[in-house]
Amino acid sequence: MWKRNAHAADTSAPPGAAAEQLASATDSLDRPLHQLRISVTDRCNFRCTYCMPKRAFGSRYRFLKHSEVLSFEEIARVTAIFAELGVEKVRLTGGEPTLRRDLPRLVEKLARIRGLKEINLTTNGSRLTELAVPLRDAGLSRVTVSLDSLDDDTFRAMNDVDFPVGRVLDGLEAARAAGFPKIKVNSVVKRGLNDSAVPEIAEFFRWTGINLRFIEFMDVGTTNRWQMQDVIPAEEILALVSRRFPIEPLAHQYRGEVAERWRYADGAGELGVIASVTRPFCGDCSRIRMSADGRLYTCLFGIASHDLRGPLRTGASDACLSDTIGRLWARRSDQYSESRGGEARAAPAPQKVEMSFLGG
Ligand code: GTP
Ligand code: 5AD
Ligand code: SF4
Ligand code: SF4
Repeated sequence: MWKRNAHAADTSAPPGAAAEQLASATDSLDRPLHQLRISVTDRCNFRCTYCMPKRAFGSRYRFLKHSEVLSFEEIARVTAIFAELGVEKVRLTGGEPTLRRDLPRLVEKLARIRGLKEINLTTNGSRLTELAVPLRDAGLSRVTVSLDSLDDDTFRAMNDVDFPVGRVLDGLEAARAAGFPKIKVNSVVKRGLNDSAVPEIAEFFRWTGINLRFIEFMDVGTTNRWQMQDVIPAEEILALVSRRFPIEPLAHQYRGEVAERWRYADGAGELGVIASVTRPFCGDCSRIRMSADGRLYTCLFGIASHDLRGPLRTGASDACLSDTIGRLWARRSDQYSESRGGEARAAPAPQKVEMSFLGG
């Protein structure tokens, strides 16, 4: 099913061609295409055990070469085509997106694309003290910072590098000072590592205006040795918080929102849980992902992908790329998390792609 997005830019199609283009796709389960998550690099300066464990991402791991990675011009061109197809929100991810040189220059390019309402960033916060202002000036809408602990030892146990929590907090402060609205913090909870600190993390972000979301440890990729017993279900996370601070549920803000929202009864702000394992949300999933080398994935747990870089670099027209993307979305039937259910083991998917590669 197709609808035209009247506000999207026509990037390079000849006059008249745009009117014939198909736009704003829904997939085979009637889910619209609204969000594009772009991985700008597969590299990261952290080695979180649930994402890029050192044993798999050591000195012998083959990261993408510079020539394999899409240029900013290529990313912007593809994004403009996505905007024509109905995408309104873009999220820059990685790996760690701030490791990509001149990231603000990409944001500037994306900010010029008509039809896009938000350009957001998910980062580990390690470079925000330098980059918050340039990113804001370039037109970035919002920032989400990953932070799993407030204690240096636990933080190190989770990300396996020596990076003080204080510097991430400085990055958060820099984002606030730069004027970013609605800053969020993502905190992955892993049993035996940081679960006992859940109430403390919640307390830290109360009254700050920062929206903390706890994330269930997911069975994404294959290297993190996921097992159900390491998952703290959202229900348990919420119980840990509400024992200290009473909370009340809030309604979803938009179709396809991944976080369940709660508010503190005393007015201290909002809190979220992302329960991909125990309460999956595939039914409204409107997200497509593009890896740093220009492969499209219609699911975070995707095995199959579609190469866009080849056609991009061999002269495909915008109309042709748009048609390819539209058809890919129209065929889409992914609902990995729902079909695996809350089973005590990851569904067999031996070639599941790593999250650091296809973009969180
Ligand atoms: P905003 O509402 O725009 O702030 O974005 P968001 O809620 O999508 O936030 P964010 O991009 O930070 O996503 C938070 C986390 O949710 C990700 O890091 C993933 O762990 C998880 N997540 C996001 N999208 C999906 C998805 O499509 N499937 C699954 N299973 N998990 C997802
Ligand atoms: N389970 C849950 N969240 C994860 N992230 C990375 N790997 C996992 C996983 N296995 C989250 C990070 C960050 C975002 C990019 O994805 O914490 O917030
Ligand atoms: Fe890096 Fe983020 Fe993955 Fe941690 S979760 S290793 S910070 S990409
Ligand atoms: Fe979307 Fe796949 Fe996540 Fe389900 S598991 S919400 S289909 S990305």
